[in-house]
Amino acid sequence: MGNFLQVYTLLFYILSSVNSNYLTEGLRNIQKRSIETTVEDIEIHSININSKVISHFAHNVITSRAVNRANISKEVFFNVDLPKSAFITKFSMIIDGVIYAGNINKKGAVIVSGKVDLLVRIGSTNEDMFTVTVNLPSQSEVTFELVYEDLLKRELDKFQMSIRVWQKTLPKNFQIKVDIYEPQGIRFLDARASFIKNDMLTAMKKSFSGKKGYVSFKHTTDQQCICADHSSTLLYDDFIVTYDINRESPGNIQIVNGYFVQFFAPIKLTGIPKIIIYVIDIGWAMNYNSKIKKNLLSMLKDTTEYDYINFILFHHFTEAWKDSFVKATPKNIEEAKNLIRSIHFHGDTSIHDPLLMAVELLNKAHLSKEVPERSVSIINLFTDNRNEHLPGRIQKNVKKAIQGKYTLNCLYFNNVFDYPFFEKLALENSGVAQRSHLWPHAQLQMGNFLTEKATLTLLDIEMHYPENATADLTQSKFRHYLEGDEIVVAGRLIDNDLNSFIVDVKAEGADKSLKYTENVTLQEKYGVQTQQEYNFGDFTERLWAYLTIQQLLKKWIYAGLSERANLTAKALKLSLTYNFVTPLTLMIVTMPAKTLLLEKLSAGYNYQYFSPVKSWVDSDPDFVINVPHKKDAVCFNIKDEPGVVLNLIKDQELGIAVNAELIGNKKTDNNVISNETYFGRLGIVNREKSLKIEVTTQMITILNGDNTEMFTWGDITSVSKEGFNLAISKKKNVTVSFGEGAKFVIILHEVWKDHPLHRDFLGFYTLDDHKFSGGVHGLLGQFFHGIDYEIFEVHKSDKTEKPDATMLVKNKLLTVTRDTQKDYREDPHNGSKVPCWFVHSNGEGLIDGSKKDYIVPDIFSID
Ligand SMILES: *[C@@H]1O[C@H](CO)[C@@H](O)[C@H](O)[C@H]1NC(C)=O
Ligand SMILES: *[C@@H]1O[C@H](CO)[C@@H](O)[C@H](O)[C@H]1NC(C)=O
Ligand SMILES: *[C@@H]1O[C@H](CO)[C@@H](O)[C@H](O)[C@H]1NC(C)=O
Ligand SMILES: *[C@@H]1O[C@H](CO)[C@@H](O)[C@H](O)[C@H]1NC(C)=O
Ligand SMILES: *[C@@H]1O[C@H](CO)[C@@H](O)[C@H](O)[C@H]1NC(C)=O
Ligand SMILES: *[C@@H]1O[C@H](CO)[C@@H](O)[C@H](O)[C@H]1NC(C)=O
Ligand SMILES: *[C@@H]1O[C@H](CO)[C@@H](O)[C@H](O)[C@H]1NC(C)=O
Repeated sequence: MGNFLQVYTLLFYILSSVNSNYLTEGLRNIQKRSIETTVEDIEIHSININSKVISHFAHNVITSRAVNRANISKEVFFNVDLPKSAFITKFSMIIDGVIYAGNINKKGAVIVSGKVDLLVRIGSTNEDMFTVTVNLPSQSEVTFELVYEDLLKRELDKFQMSIRVWQKTLPKNFQIKVDIYEPQGIRFLDARASFIKNDMLTAMKKSFSGKKGYVSFKHTTDQQCICADHSSTLLYDDFIVTYDINRESPGNIQIVNGYFVQFFAPIKLTGIPKIIIYVIDIGWAMNYNSKIKKNLLSMLKDTTEYDYINFILFHHFTEAWKDSFVKATPKNIEEAKNLIRSIHFHGDTSIHDPLLMAVELLNKAHLSKEVPERSVSIINLFTDNRNEHLPGRIQKNVKKAIQGKYTLNCLYFNNVFDYPFFEKLALENSGVAQRSHLWPHAQLQMGNFLTEKATLTLLDIEMHYPENATADLTQSKFRHYLEGDEIVVAGRLIDNDLNSFIVDVKAEGADKSLKYTENVTLQEKYGVQTQQEYNFGDFTERLWAYLTIQQLLKKWIYAGLSERANLTAKALKLSLTYNFVTPLTLMIVTMPAKTLLLEKLSAGYNYQYFSPVKSWVDSDPDFVINVPHKKDAVCFNIKDEPGVVLNLIKDQELGIAVNAELIGNKKTDNNVISNETYFGRLGIVNREKSLKIEVTTQMITILNGDNTEMFTWGDITSVSKEGFNLAISKKKNVTVSFGEGAKFVIILHEVWKDHPLHRDFLGFYTLDDHKFSGGVHGLLGQFFHGIDYEIFEVHKSDKTEKPDATMLVKNKLLTVTRDTQKDYREDPHNGSKVPCWFVHSNGEGLIDGSKKDYIVPDIFSID
């Protein structure tokens, strides 16, 4: 059993701003291992968090040292939660004085074969958890060091850096140290943490003066304990540092060694009215109503009287609240609230028409001048489904209709795969996409929507840098600027003889166009004006690379295929040059007989479902194995010739076996060759009870010794014998059980009698399998006692919409694909979708042996 060395959550609250919203979410289903803590064995000596922040680019070093005091080896975990936008740059371990350092490689280039003893993954973007596990020998000592970099974002006039501390074991020495250097000077600095009790305030120090700020927190076990109860979580809270800088001019430029970064943040401008149309899908499941309504109501609170609002509710109809926009006066807001309260959510619908209607309403409002000319128009879509068979049609038509004039934000309430669709839709229309989960414990995060934030003060910001002085610029045109935010642009200086250059910033303000000009002198082009102690490499260059990679990855989302290849190549090159673990790279730590992979997931895919069924096989034939502890499933497909009989379950000890025979499609005259096979005949044998059951698409036959009982699928009947039950549900299913703990259901798929190709076929589902012995085998049976796997390296595949990933299962690494299969128990026609990790090549690597090993002579074989 492992010992929780530590769990940190370092969350620099990433506040979305319009210019760089790379919103992805994680693979929530990747479950953290459940860890039993035996505190005494692993002694955590120290944990140090050391942050150096220069021009709000943070370089963080986390070091932790532990000793195994047990007389046997123990697993030690090192877990860190990273900010979503952070890139890891370094990781190393020192075990008994030997250093093992990670190397960054191109993803896919390194083939890791054989047994993987040590696995590190960084990912699940929402919970960017970094995890390393080491099996530490008795009396050995390990030191972990993790370094990552992140740009702090400014929102509502401050930068916020939040370090969440959650740990089970109190280290002997625990220290947080944050050094800040801001060339423009620090305006204020604050730090707090509620785990710090009054009598411990002395443990925290904070100060700032001029360009420097300093925060520290130090705790040793000699000091009074933070929490009385040693057995429970000792520290669980955020350690938050907030600060802001002085701004004499709106566009400060920092230059170090040929790279510049401009931080642009004009202040005290008049707000620009917002014209907001909320497009609300009311096709939601009833149980989430209150959650969604509550959030809609709170969004309305953030509008001002200068703003204009309207609503479109859609279901199988599309209806606007008002024909034209109304001012967000208290009276209208109240009316809008009543509208929201009265919404009755139901069924499915498509977002296509409602979005076009929203664009039309905005067009009309602008054309008829019912809304101010200087304003920003926003469409906020709330939906749980695109419900459109041609997603490309929506994207194309919406983009065409909006013509770059309006911002489309998408809030997607769901847990399945459509999120990339909404992300693309929003990004293409200068908006942001966000996903909220619907399950009970999920927090709705709606705080990142443009409309909810501070006052919008500038539109269409264009930063112009002379072409003869600069190159390789990051994004320099921005749609919106919110009061209290900051726009960041970085680039390279061309090595020429210029002594100065002019930066022009053009933007639209509330009542006029604005222009800012900055004369940048280049005498410090090669002179570093930063202090040595703060200088982690050339921060402007690293910040430039960091921003460029983030923006390339964001562009990738809505780029075409050929463009994607270019974006990937560029981002990869930068990631390797600057040592960033990005979605395109992988960090590998090589140890004797051990390989450690370190990665950042490119995009998360999220879903959740619960199904009481354990495993099944249906259709042509697709095998699905539920993995309840992961709230996920694995699946595979077995292809073979019609007539082949496959063993699904075989338990010699219990004397039970289930076999199934493949049938093909009907032969056709017009040369249609189809390789599809299905199960047409199933045999269930119980040796102890001298019982054989044959289920075909026509008949159900029970052979009990010399007795034969025959039924058709049209019957409604049940047969009960000692320790055996069979029930036929007319035209639907046959349930078979052998006492407690062995229960199956067989589904009949009827196709139209004169179907030119298809025949009727069967599906087989295990409802209960806990009676089976440890020796149970077969294509389904071998999974009855559970299976464990790890998923990592999830990456988008260029070939399909479905992402690929690497699965670590049975000590093998397999490439798997995210897929969906169907559970047809409820609805034999349409089925209900079940996401799963698909293992290719007839389940090779997942199943023991190969498919050949499961071919049996007949449907009653049990040898
Ligand atoms: C390890 O320690 C346990 C109890 O602390 C003791 O029972 C056991 O004999 C020890 N084993 C060895 C190999 O020293
Ligand atoms: C650089 O370009 C600017 C206009 O963009 C021009 O005014 C200036 O003369 C150019 N400087 C040099 C050295 O070519
Ligand atoms: C910019 O500043 C430099 C140095 O102070 C000066 O020589 C140059 O004339 C200025 N340029 C403009 C356009 O004001
Ligand atoms: C990709 O890069 C190549 C070479 O740099 C260039 O010729 C091509 O036009 C680029 N394609 C796209 C779609 O940007
Ligand atoms: C059927 O299988 C053969 C051989 O495996 C393959 O060449 C052919 O493309 C398949 N046909 C279809 C329609 O899948
Ligand atoms: C069998 O079909 C009936 C009728 O549709 C349904 O009520 C029952 O739940 C099904 N049994 C199982 C085990 O799925
Ligand atoms: C299956 O789907 C079709 C169309 O998608 C629908 O008309 C039908 O009602 C569905 N069947 C059931 C049983 O829900």
